[in-house]
Amino acid sequence: MRALLPSIFSLPIPGGRRLHSVPVDHLEENLTAVRGRISQACERAARDPSTVELLAVSKSQPPAVVERAAALGLRLFGENRVQEAGSKMPLCPAHLRWHFIGHLQTNKCREAAESFEMVQAVDSLRVAEELNRRSEQAARTLPVLLEVNVSGESSKHGLGPEAVLRELPAFNALGRLAVHGFMTMAPWSPLPERARLHFRKLREMRDACEQALGAPLPVLSMGMSGDFEVAIEEGATLIRLGTALFGTRKGATPA
Ligand SMILES: Cc1ncc(COP(=O)(O)O)c(C=O)c1O
Repeated sequence: MRALLPSIFSLPIPGGRRLHSVPVDHLEENLTAVRGRISQACERAARDPSTVELLAVSKSQPPAVVERAAALGLRLFGENRVQEAGSKMPLCPAHLRWHFIGHLQTNKCREAAESFEMVQAVDSLRVAEELNRRSEQAARTLPVLLEVNVSGESSKHGLGPEAVLRELPAFNALGRLAVHGFMTMAPWSPLPERARLHFRKLREMRDACEQALGAPLPVLSMGMSGDFEVAIEEGATLIRLGTALFGTRKGATPA
């Protein structure tokens, strides 16, 4: 068993990249700290912590780390590369749930529609139409979130808020997609408070869309390691955490 460990921790994936072999220290302590911070943020916002779902961003983490996270009670994982996820998911415990959280190209829509519980980052009608077609072929209805570029940063994917309001009926008309809400990434800043305005705008936009549609859009996926408490205070129902759980990803720019 011992001899197997290095290969598990350094899993070759198609395309030649290798998942990194940095051991994930302190996962249990990190998770306990995160849960405490979620509770405190909920208390400040007078919210029930059970209304905030924690998604562990497992991109670049090998199956052994996902398994350890699962043993600590985490169930929902997020991946941003279809190919990496496709080789990882079969090696992870079968009861886990997986969301696709990255930018999706139309040529990856078939795998995404077949493999994920939800696609979080639908950022164009074109991608939505292809996901709809592939979901039809897979004989399923696919829950999705629309990614919104609230801040208007040119480096970010996502629909502008006006485009969302304009195109929502077209997204909603796709019979094999179920639009559950929105996701966003706030601009990076060392000051979490700077993200508040963007999260608030997304919530207000969601409220306006619910009115226009006459249907609930309950999911607000917003908040990452640097700003999740502010996101919870502003109404996040799903937070996506990588660094706060697993430590700094190899190759990531230190915050
Ligand atoms: C869409 C998305 N959400 C959340 C995260 C997690 O970020 P962090 O490590 O800051 O928690 C990432 C990381 O790349 C991401 O791409």
